Order: sequence, then C-alpha cells, then structure tokens
Amino acid sequence: MKDFYKDKVVVISGASSGMGRDLAALLAPWGAHLAVTARRQPLLDELRAECEAAGAQTLTFACDVTDEAAMLALRDAVLDKWGRADVVIANAGVGGLNPGDNFSLEIHRKVVEINAIGLANTLIPFVPSMIARRQGHLVGISSLAAFRGLPNAASYSSSKAAQMVFLESLRVDLRKHHIAVSCIHPGFIESPMTEHDEFRMPFKLPVRESSVLIAKAIAGRKASYLYPWQMRMVTAVNKHLPRFLYDTLVPRLSGQKEHIAPRIF
Ligand SMILES: NC(=O)c1ccc[n+]([C@@H]2O[C@H](COP(=O)([O-])OP(=O)(O)OC[C@H]3O[C@@H](n4cnc5c(N)ncnc54)[C@H](OP(=O)(O)O)[C@@H]3O)[C@@H](O)[C@H]2O)c1
Repeated sequence: MKDFYKDKVVVISGASSGMGRDLAALLAPWGAHLAVTARRQPLLDELRAECEAAGAQTLTFACDVTDEAAMLALRDAVLDKWGRADVVIANAGVGGLNPGDNFSLEIHRKVVEINAIGLANTLIPFVPSMIARRQGHLVGISSLAAFRGLPNAASYSSSKAAQMVFLESLRVDLRKHHIAVSCIHPGFIESPMTEHDEFRMPFKLPVRESSVLIAKAIAGRKASYLYPWQMRMVTAVNKHLPRFLYDTLVPRLSGQKEHIAPRIF
C-alpha cells in the first residue's frame, strides 16, 4: 500500500485537524506530495513542518471550501507546482445537531453548504486536468450517517447522503475517462468533531486506525467503503429496519438528550 502513494500528488481538504490532518501525516513518509487545505493557516503551517520533516513536498493553501473562486485558486496552485493531482480527497466538513422540533434553517444551510457544496467545490476543479491525463482519483469522506435520517441529524445526514449520491453519479460519468471515484463512510472516529457526549458513539476508532483504513481503501480504488466492520454491520441492519422499528428503536439507542439546541461541531 505504501508504494501506491510514492510520488503521488495528493490533495486533502480539512487537513488542519482530525482525520484530514492525520491522513496527511500518515502519507508524508510514504513519498506522497501533499497539498493540504483548511481555513486555519497556523495549523496548516504546523502540519507542513511535520510533513516536510518526514520528507514530503508540501503545499499549504488556506481557504474556505464554500468559496468557489478560492477552491479554483487551490487547483491552480497544485497544477502550477506539480502539473497534476493524482488523488483529491474532499474531507472538510462539519458535524451538527438540528432537531426537527427546534430546527434552525441557518445551521442547515451552513452544514449543507460546507459538506455538500464544499465537496463539489473541492473535487470538480480537478476534473478537466484528470480527463486530459485519462487518470486520477476523486475521494469524498461521507459518513455512515448517509444511509438513514438519524435522529436530530436532518442537516448532517442529508448533507452526507447528498455527498454519497453526488459521488455515485460522478463515478458513472467519469469511468469512461479512467477517473476513479470513491465514497468513504466512516463510523465514529476520535477527532475534535466527536469530542462531546451529545449521543452514544459505539466502536469509536482511533484516528490513526481510521487513516490506515482510508489509505487502503483509496489504494484499492474502492467505489464505496464502510468502516469499522462493527458499524458496517450495524448500518446493514439499520438500512433494512422496518419503519416502525426504526422510528422507535433508533432514537432510544442513540442516547440523545431531550432538549437539544441546534448546533455545529
Ligand atoms: N469524526 C467522525 O466520527 C466522523 C465520522 C464520519 C464522517 N466524518 C467526516 O470526516 C470529515 C473530517 O472530520 P473530522 O472528524 O476530522 O472533523 P474535525 O477534526 O472537526 O475536522 C474538520 C476539518 O474540516 C475543516 N473545515 C470545516 N469547515 C470548513 C470550511 N468551511 N472550509 C474549509 N475547511 C473546513 C476544518 O478546518 P478549519 O476549521 O481550519 O477550516 C478541519 O480541518 C468530515 O467530513 C466529517 O463529516 C467524521
């Protein structure tokens, strides 16, 4: 797997913390060239120092994934530096709670804009150069929350489902150009996003274990990858749970509190 990444130009969004940061740190000693982006430049600078110390050529580019012009400028900076992007990983995202009986349209718009539109803004600029080279790999970090509308998660679940379906259409369309498209569905992973106790998080995985599994799934050009295996099983059951059971059981099992304020994390 390590050989797969040697001399590959890998773009990672959401690289200032959590899963994106750890993935970059994992790939750096494997010979990947890294373009890392997020809004917080000082954290990207720290990551660049770490990746360069591990031997990786590293480009940082601070911007917001909802800013279409800035994401085009990121693409230009990557192509100027290396002439290509081999793997583009749209990982940036926000979590959140938005209960149906206390719903915030403002939070909904933000979550959908960052997660769903942000993913498109990250991947689509690289498509023309990949078509020209007849190779490339687009990756989106969705979630197991994409498969059903989870309690108090109308915004998050729908944004992750939008990512999944968007990536599936891209996969079909780009196949003839030899461009691979992968949709990654993590369960609960240790990161700043999950540093709260708003709901139960069974089988939470250390971030490094998650990064290794993502790196393997990308190297294996998997169209869709659900992990960890325990949550893959839970999701398989959940997907086919009859509506009357889903509506009563899942809210109880999720362990959420009674009165939830809409929020992003
Ligand atoms: N942790 C989990 O359990 C879990 C499970 C399933 C899926 N995921 C998905 O995995 C991805 C990474 O999550 P994480 O757990 O690593 O969360 P995290 O530690 O909170 O990291 C989120 C990253 O996204 C960036 N980001 C957020 N909004 C952005 C914006 N508007 N523009 C640019 N960058 C933005 C943040 O950087 P700045 O704030 O510096 O911009 C940060 O680098 C997300 O898409 C998340 O939905 C996570």
